[in-house]
Amino acid sequence: MTHRSSRQAQRMLPEDLSLNPMFVGEGEEAVPRFRMREKGMVPETAYQIVHDEIALDGNARLNLATFVSTWMEPAADRLYAEAFDKNIIDKDEYPQTAAIEERCVHILADLWHSPEPQSTMGVSTTGSSEACMLAGLALKRRWQNARKKQGKPIDRPNIVFSSAVQVVWEKFANYWDVEPRYVDITPDRPYLDPKGVLAAVDVNTIGVVPILGVTYTGVYEPIAEIAKALDDLQERTGLDIPMHIDAASGGFVAPFLQPDLVWDFQLPRVKSINVSGHKYGLVYPGLGWVIWRQAEDLPEDLVFRVSYLGGNMPTFALNFSRPGAQVLLQYYNFLRLGKEGYYKVQKYSQSVAHFLSAQIQNTGPFELLTDGSDIPVFAWRLKDGYTSNWNLYDLSKQLRTYGWQVPAYPMPADMEDVTIMRVVVRNGFSMDLAHLFLMNLQQAVAFLDSLDGPMPHETKKDNGFHH
Ligand SMILES: Cc1ncc(COP(=O)(O)O)c(C=O)c1O
Repeated sequence: MTHRSSRQAQRMLPEDLSLNPMFVGEGEEAVPRFRMREKGMVPETAYQIVHDEIALDGNARLNLATFVSTWMEPAADRLYAEAFDKNIIDKDEYPQTAAIEERCVHILADLWHSPEPQSTMGVSTTGSSEACMLAGLALKRRWQNARKKQGKPIDRPNIVFSSAVQVVWEKFANYWDVEPRYVDITPDRPYLDPKGVLAAVDVNTIGVVPILGVTYTGVYEPIAEIAKALDDLQERTGLDIPMHIDAASGGFVAPFLQPDLVWDFQLPRVKSINVSGHKYGLVYPGLGWVIWRQAEDLPEDLVFRVSYLGGNMPTFALNFSRPGAQVLLQYYNFLRLGKEGYYKVQKYSQSVAHFLSAQIQNTGPFELLTDGSDIPVFAWRLKDGYTSNWNLYDLSKQLRTYGWQVPAYPMPADMEDVTIMRVVVRNGFSMDLAHLFLMNLQQAVAFLDSLDGPMPHETKKDNGFHH
């Protein structure tokens, strides 16, 4: 589905694509933009058309908006090219890819302190979004099965998270008919508050979902505190509510940068965890993981069997076919980096985040919300009353003139009045680039400060970033 305004904009373009005369053959048919041409064309021409068009996309190295990997080293690129053709579901045809996926599951289960790392269940997915859907489904089915056993109704499930939850959880609730219960964040506690959790849960709660690395600001939600509050609740009332941890970013950061933080399967209430392999797992887009604490935490009736070496293998996934190459790249990174390598890469990103956030804090107009101490992501706001001539949306547009893509957006309920700007520091964003970014940020601010009057605003908020 295309974005409506982008579709309208495309309709304003000429009906046919324009071909460079060097590629136009004798009697060459026009190339319609929105219809398939009768005849094909030579590979070089097709390549050139697509190649030229994507040159207008942003420069990935200057994209400080995305969490998703934009660079891997040449050996990984080579492996990727060798594995383009592998379909993850063809376990029979590609048994070693299947074995490597299994190995990765157990490596992650071990990293996150599962009590049964070698036998527990887990799967690779297209990203954290699919992983969250699967984890949410498992929570729902587990709750339904328990309620059915007690002869109790199962028609009103709910799920609890903070208002700063990523959109995937809204989707989960919508697509699978579960009532979303948002605990609003506050300026004092801009994350899932244990007291708010206790006020939101009841006998119909399928689970509570804290985030390890909130998308808006990068902050870790207080998982151990929430688990403790739910332990106390169980002691008082007998109500046993499981937790799923959305560790889309933090699952590959906390084990290396904050090894003493207790957030994972060390807490018995944590029944499943998801992570994006394509974020701080350092793999190209298209990879997520979800792991259950123990095999029994994934309801058996959700598991399908696919043929595998004459036997069958349990799978749990929304897709059937999906690329297998990213799984191999994840395993490549595990081998290549080890724990020490992951530590070094994430530590470097964090030192860039700390350097930049400290500099930004010292730049007149800004005030930090986070400084990159959890995941290497930080966010800032414009100081109250600094100027009425420009806002962070204007700054975001101004930074685009230098090529930098930095989103500005409003915080969620109950902080909608606060607009923030966020930088995600990923592998490949070097200290040298950080110095250049800082210089351009200062130039952009100087330009905006020099305006005689307010910037014209078409809409207050839309600057092209959607989160
Ligand atoms: C906390 C959180 N959960 C889920 C997602 C969705 O992840 P993916 O893009 O891997 O589908 C994101 C993406 O930013 C996220 O930050």
